[in-house]
Amino acid sequence: MNTSDLAESARKAAERAYAPYSGFRVGSVVVADDGAVYSGSNVENAAFGSAICAEEAAISHAVASGVRRIVAVAVACIDADSVDGAYPCGNCRQLMNEFGVEKVIVTAGAGELREHTLDELLPFGFKLET
Ligand code: THU
Repeated sequence: MNTSDLAESARKAAERAYAPYSGFRVGSVVVADDGAVYSGSNVENAAFGSAICAEEAAISHAVASGVRRIVAVAVACIDADSVDGAYPCGNCRQLMNEFGVEKVIVTAGAGELREHTLDELLPFGFKLET
C-alpha cells in the first residue's frame, strides 16, 4: 500500500471510531514488516481515562496477531480541521517506538497529509535492551 492508500484506510477506520464524548474520531493503520496491515480506531468510555487511542488499538491488533516489528503507521483524525491538530499523542509515539516504527503518516479532515520519521516526532525515544 502506498502513502495515500494507507491514509485512506486510516480514514475508513476513523469512521468506525467510538467517540461519543469528544466527537473526535480517529483511525489508524499500521504496516508490519511482512507488509500486513492492521487497523484500529479510538474507543472512548464514560470513565474518560479508560479511552483507547486509535494508534494504540491498531498496534495492539498487530501485536495480538503476532507482529513484533512495525514499519509504518498512518493516523487520520477526520474531525480535525487541520493536520496540525491530528498528530499522535506522546503515549502513542512511545508505543510506536517500541516496535521500531520508521514512518508516520498524519492526515486530517480536509485531506491534508504529512509524512514524518518517528525520530522527528520522538527524538531520543526511550528503549530498553531486550
Ligand atoms: N486520540 C487518538 O485516538 N490518538 C491520539 O494520538 C490522540 C488522541 C483520541 C483519544 C480520544 O478518544 C480523542 O482522540 C480525543 O482526545
